[in-house]
Amino acid sequence: MNTTTESPAVIASQSDPTLGYKSFELGGFRFRRDEYFAHVQWTTRDGRELSHTMDAANFLRALMRDVAWGFFYGGVNFDHVLGTTNHYKTVDLYAGTYNATMKAAGVDRLENFPTDQIAATFFAMLDDWTNEGFDPFAAPLETGSAHGRKRGHNTPAITRARELAKRCVGLKDDLPLRSDARGAPVNRAFADVPQDQPELHPEPGFENEVHAFNLFAFLSRSQVTWNPSFTSVVKYSYMCPTTEEHILPIIHANDRVEWFFQMCDEIHWDCADKTTGKPLARVIMKAGDMAAMPAYCRHQGYSPKRSMLLVWENGSPNLVYEIQKGDAPEVPVKF
Ligand code: PHB
Ligand code: FE
Repeated sequence: MNTTTESPAVIASQSDPTLGYKSFELGGFRFRRDEYFAHVQWTTRDGRELSHTMDAANFLRALMRDVAWGFFYGGVNFDHVLGTTNHYKTVDLYAGTYNATMKAAGVDRLENFPTDQIAATFFAMLDDWTNEGFDPFAAPLETGSAHGRKRGHNTPAITRARELAKRCVGLKDDLPLRSDARGAPVNRAFADVPQDQPELHPEPGFENEVHAFNLFAFLSRSQVTWNPSFTSVVKYSYMCPTTEEHILPIIHANDRVEWFFQMCDEIHWDCADKTTGKPLARVIMKAGDMAAMPAYCRHQGYSPKRSMLLVWENGSPNLVYEIQKGDAPEVPVKF
């Protein structure tokens, strides 16, 4: 590969003269894209060369989440082969490691990288491979095509700031409410959602302590899908609501319990063993339903219409190690 170094950690080729895309290398993994597909190639544990192919749009939607969420909690599977595991200072990149069939055949590979090295490579690949008009965060019906030869870029869409409240949306010096003026019009699917705000009557001196806002109105103005924001933070209790449409672009293998509250419409979840991929459950969540995903599962949601989902995460940095030691449970409740 004719390599140029974009930043100390990124190994990229020159742009392909016909297709326009660069290829990337990270340890023993090689990534290239063509008009329709992303191709990943690696040297297997037993020394063979293997490749894997994903639709370019699906690959970029998954890559977008991994980049924007800083590798998230635990495992981010791009599909049933490729993914990352966050160790919070380092990240594993793997192919086939959590696919029981590939693992048994010895054709998997797992490599650990410093977070900034894999982050820089993933960002450079996302930026080079995302064409003008394709927004990896948008619902398929609300964006252009990812396919074809390289056309321009969409750096503004892939570098949007994550919306993370420090205490609560709408408080002084905190994440502001969404509005038309801020470039957040009501989504076509939520035209019927009331936009009024609650009345607040705090005692003098408590104006920045007593607070409420209309969460349905806030979510009706989300411009993206499958991208939780933080709307309230109390110690390590993070309320992460999001609007969902089409398919969660990753199969999440959390390293802790997480809760889902279906606020409207419905999402169908496929749940599987996070190590092997063996199917465990199908969870059909309708408006008002709550579910908890145990730390031993991987899950992927399907939302036929744009819906509102509240994800509740315990963001404690110690929790993953408490679970590993057996000091904290993998399930939300034992009967
Ligand atoms: C999840 O992996 O649990 C998850 C991620 C993003 C969402 C919803 C759920 O928008
Ligand atoms: Fe999850």
